[in-house]
Amino acid sequence: MRRAWLLCLALVMLGACTADGDRPGVIVLPGMVESIPYDSHDRNSVTGQTLLLPPEGTVPYGFRPFAYGPGVEEAARAGRELANPILVDGAAMESHLRAGQEGYDIFCTVCHGPAGEGDGPIIGRFPNPPSLLGEHALGMADGHIYHVIFHGQGLMPAYNAQIREEERWRIVAYVRSLQRAATATGSAGADEKASAPLASSANAVVEPESVEDPNTVEGGAS
Ligand code: HEC
Repeated sequence: MRRAWLLCLALVMLGACTADGDRPGVIVLPGMVESIPYDSHDRNSVTGQTLLLPPEGTVPYGFRPFAYGPGVEEAARAGRELANPILVDGAAMESHLRAGQEGYDIFCTVCHGPAGEGDGPIIGRFPNPPSLLGEHALGMADGHIYHVIFHGQGLMPAYNAQIREEERWRIVAYVRSLQRAATATGSAGADEKASAPLASSANAVVEPESVEDPNTVEGGAS
């Protein structure tokens, strides 16, 4: 009896030796070999077409819709209604600002310059970007700056696809820290449409460590 079992087992194992390329050989439990779902581009007997648009009103998992459309009015509304959510966690501010600087250096410095003076390497090759230390940007609420990152503004492109939600708020906090540093050194508001690197550039570069006190961070969106 035992030898019969061994013989059966050996036959099954030998059967598996017929596997080659796409042919799996002898399949003992076929349930997981044959795929039940339709392939994306197959026709299907229920709806005809397998690949469909998502039903209206649904959002992808993990995606949070932004309740503000593009445009100046929506930007102002975002400024009035949104507060920077990362400011509540004062203890983490240092790491938020460090991450904000990283994001800023990657996405914003090329146009607005390392300290926000509007003197990025792009000047002269693109309509010169405004200084983020100018009166206008200083007067923008946090939510408004967030909106500019999300939807862009005028010639500035939208960055919502490249920068994730928390990252955007971190960059907003970092822009605020650049503005505070510049205000402290007296260079803020001086040159709204800077078109060349300013002499005070080096002084305005902020070290995140110097602004870690959460009490010095403005709420902004009031
Ligand atoms: C391709 C160049 C470019 C990049 C990159 C860029 N900006 Fe801008 N940004 C501009 C220009 C140009 C304007 C002026 C747009 C207008 O009003 O026509 C502007 C305007 C702004 C304003 C409004 C300033 C004001 O006084 O009206 C803010 C705030 C701002 N940018 C922040 C950012 C941040 C933060 C980033 C990085 C996430 C960024 N920008 C990346 C070109 C750029």
